[in-house]
Amino acid sequence: MTQVKTRILLDPEETPKHFINIVPYLRRKLDPPLNPLTDEPMPPEALEAIFARECVKQEASTEKRIRIPEEVREGLMHFSRPTPLQRAIRLEKYLKTPARIYFKREDVSPTGSHKLNTALTQAYYAQQQGVERLATETGAGQWGSAVALSCSYLGLEAMVYMVRISYDQKKYRGALMRSYGGEVVPSPSTRTEFGRKILTENPDHPGTLGIAISEALEDTMKSDRTKYTLGSVLNHVLLHQTVIGQETIEQLNMVEETPDEVIGCVGGGSNFAGLSYPMLASDDFTNTKFIAAEPSACPTLTEGRYCYDFGDTAGMTPKLKMYSLGASFTPPKIHAGGLRYHGVAPTISMLYEDKKIEAKAYGQIDVLNAGITFAKTEGIIPAPESAHAIKTAIDSALDAKENGREKVIVFGLSGHGHFDMLAYEALMQGELENT
Ligand SMILES: Cc1ncc(COP(=O)(O)O)c(C=O)c1O
Repeated sequence: MTQVKTRILLDPEETPKHFINIVPYLRRKLDPPLNPLTDEPMPPEALEAIFARECVKQEASTEKRIRIPEEVREGLMHFSRPTPLQRAIRLEKYLKTPARIYFKREDVSPTGSHKLNTALTQAYYAQQQGVERLATETGAGQWGSAVALSCSYLGLEAMVYMVRISYDQKKYRGALMRSYGGEVVPSPSTRTEFGRKILTENPDHPGTLGIAISEALEDTMKSDRTKYTLGSVLNHVLLHQTVIGQETIEQLNMVEETPDEVIGCVGGGSNFAGLSYPMLASDDFTNTKFIAAEPSACPTLTEGRYCYDFGDTAGMTPKLKMYSLGASFTPPKIHAGGLRYHGVAPTISMLYEDKKIEAKAYGQIDVLNAGITFAKTEGIIPAPESAHAIKTAIDSALDAKENGREKVIVFGLSGHGHFDMLAYEALMQGELENT
């Protein structure tokens, strides 16, 4: 009997040497960011006040491939790259599906998600230009953990504004960031003028990513030794995640598979882009469907508007052309904190508008039940964010069963849920609504 290959592994030296830039592969030119005060197109250099210079350069780049600095590659290898591609053989058996399901394991990073890929890269570029401190926001805490570890790896200070609802739900995320030497406060906080204003209006505000971004930006603008770092949405952030998809292509080649469907959860869009952009930039995947999974509590693609909007709540960021639910939208307190964001990356928004990718939205109970099914069959408790991709993959595999047709499904396991057990506990106690 031939044994099914369930773990498809690459050697550390096979870690990609370049990032793949989707921008030159788009059918249309991206709409430029607009100055928040004048609504005039903004020159990229204007962003250098807040971002590392190299990140700003990459933000506007139209190069197809951008070399990964060797020091960054070494760091990525040190922190688990390349990650395994795994076949969900027990999930397939449980579902009795003819579909073959593969998942890309970003949960094996020491901080628990894909976020380290760009945190390390951005921190490196900042350190190279003499920056001493990074300020950022975090939703679920995965991004803040990745920034805190990257800063400790490169000898920088980290300041993290963590959305208050997640800060309370995931106490140990704060402890992890502090263990790496980072400083973490719940947002809205009393540290910034904007945080104090929100707290005066509503002392019990649960926080949003939009508010936390405003706080981190205000912090950055008041300190000349600090740069801001963002965990999603912008072109350069999505670019850094393309190591995921490049590895996945190699690994699928090793088992001679071409995916019918590639699925990823979408908050700002970075893990979905990381997995799918190298395939969207290639002619080998023209028959593949790309599906973005989002919460019905924050249905940015499925119910948002394609328009110019701010990336934060205070209106400090440039306006971006993107799908948005409105910069002041406060999503319900779902446990997938990393998906509680009103907007979606401009490149993903354009691909969605042009019908190159699809989107599906799911309620929290359905998503977390899919997470439990995955834990029972594959042994990995997924981040609630990643469970959106699992729910989509399970539905698709059941559809294949109903239609008696084989298909190959690849989904991104963007992170583990070891710090999210309150969510699963609340589900099992029947305390959640299917928002
Ligand atoms: C595990 C995990 N997956 C997905 C996301 C969503 O972000 P993005 O859409 O940028 O991948 C987050 C954000 O915090 C996350 O922590």
